[in-house]
Amino acid sequence: MTHDSPRPARIAHVGIAVQSLAEILPFYRDLLGMPELQLADADGAKIGAVQAGDSLIELLEASSSDSPIGKFVAKRGPGIHHICFAVDDLDATLARCKQAGVRLIDETPRIGAEGKRIAFLHPSATGGVLVELSDF
Ligand code: CO
Repeated sequence: MTHDSPRPARIAHVGIAVQSLAEILPFYRDLLGMPELQLADADGAKIGAVQAGDSLIELLEASSSDSPIGKFVAKRGPGIHHICFAVDDLDATLARCKQAGVRLIDETPRIGAEGKRIAFLHPSATGGVLVELSDF
């Protein structure tokens, strides 16, 4: 691999919508032995994060019922909400998706919970999976 080869995308985190952080965090932290990390709140959700190798599991608890996670849990119950892929060149990847007709939720990247730039793609274009892309 040359120095200029793009790095392959990796799973940055899996976002899981939960009813109660306090209730579910001990499962990941204490029973599965995943170290806990502190992350800032984002998009109207409190985030509890645990480390799974090079990836994170982000446990998302709605701060209000009209937040995206609040609406998701009301409609579908708790469960996997989105998957975030870190890509080598976020701007180029977004441009490529847009050109291919993939519907973007975020036309321009914004700062996510990990402090990196992120952008969401619409699940209608990704086989029903809410995909988040982030800087590496
Ligand atoms: Co996320």
